[in-house]
Amino acid sequence: MIPIIRPTLVDFSDVEAEFKEVWESGQVTVSKYTALFEKKVAKTLKVKNVIAVSSCTSGLILGAKALALKGEVILPTFTFAATAHALIWNNVTPVFCDSEKGTYNIDVKKIESLITKKTSAIMPVYIFGVPPKIDALEKIAAKYNLKLLFDSAQGLGATFKGVPSGGFGDIEVFSLSPTKVVSSIEGGLITTNNDELANNIRQLRDYGKSADGEDMDHVGLSARISEFHSIVGLKNFQKVRQLIRNRLNIIKLYKKHLKNTRGITFQHVPDTCKSTGNYMVIFIDERKAKASRDEVYKYMSDNGAQTKKYFYPALHMQTAYMKYRKKYSGKLPVAEKAALEGLALPLYSHMDNSLVLKVCRLIKEVL
Ligand SMILES: Cc1ncc(COP(=O)(O)O)c(C=O)c1O
Repeated sequence: MIPIIRPTLVDFSDVEAEFKEVWESGQVTVSKYTALFEKKVAKTLKVKNVIAVSSCTSGLILGAKALALKGEVILPTFTFAATAHALIWNNVTPVFCDSEKGTYNIDVKKIESLITKKTSAIMPVYIFGVPPKIDALEKIAAKYNLKLLFDSAQGLGATFKGVPSGGFGDIEVFSLSPTKVVSSIEGGLITTNNDELANNIRQLRDYGKSADGEDMDHVGLSARISEFHSIVGLKNFQKVRQLIRNRLNIIKLYKKHLKNTRGITFQHVPDTCKSTGNYMVIFIDERKAKASRDEVYKYMSDNGAQTKKYFYPALHMQTAYMKYRKKYSGKLPVAEKAALEGLALPLYSHMDNSLVLKVCRLIKEVL
């Protein structure tokens, strides 16, 4: 079976000495290598503060907490569930927005009509690694005095109008899980140019402890990152440009071989953006194609290639979000269609071209 993802990790020999040093020192969590990792990311992304955490999900929960989000927050329904989960953990009501045709990012033209007296923030997502319309989002946030918390899980290494992700809005949160371009095996990064927020988040990462460690200033999480994860994250992050270049080349190859297949479209990447190429998703319109997305999914699985219906179901259609289903069902047409048509194909930074060609051959066979 061709796997849908494989984490691209540096050779074990590249981390062995550091692992041994940490193992023997006893300083195994949030110490020297976490600091080095945070510093390296801050310098590369040109952002003042980076706080490494245990996952993007815990980072989003802490980000929403540090921003004191309340009432309602607007987010796309076409995203991974963790975006909304972070709000629910903060007792905030998610308000689902439709997606933009082509990029499948949050549709900025549909945000203003969702703003009410209760809205405290907008939470956009880098869909498949493509930045949303950052300038328009910052404008709306400023106009209505809203916070801007980016779920940048898939966006580490992306740029918008030449500016690297990391310093947009109030806070950005990245994922370092095995499915991401840069992985620390598990982990996340919170970035912000606001020092006060950063200090607060550093406390929140460690239960909310006071500076002397005796008292609790806040109700935080246990969301520290271990030194071992930081070493892996640092070593992989040093290769971020190469990892992205490899993925974009693979995506180019996929597109070259699939572009004339009837019923298939690709995510549009605007000229203003550089994508991380985190996912290669095709959209299969069953009115035009010879098979539906679900039939293609089954054919691929039966013939040795793992694919993923992605993102599917749209958040407001998921069991955990059942109470929102009736309110939104049928009202977010672009997102709902995308969720029914999107199929992620195998993609990882060290994927061999022969596997890409095999996947393309299978898709052409079924379509
Ligand atoms: C858009 C989005 N948000 C959040 C997450 C959660 O990241 P993590 O697994 O690091 O918690 C993911 C992971 O796939 C994601 O794709």
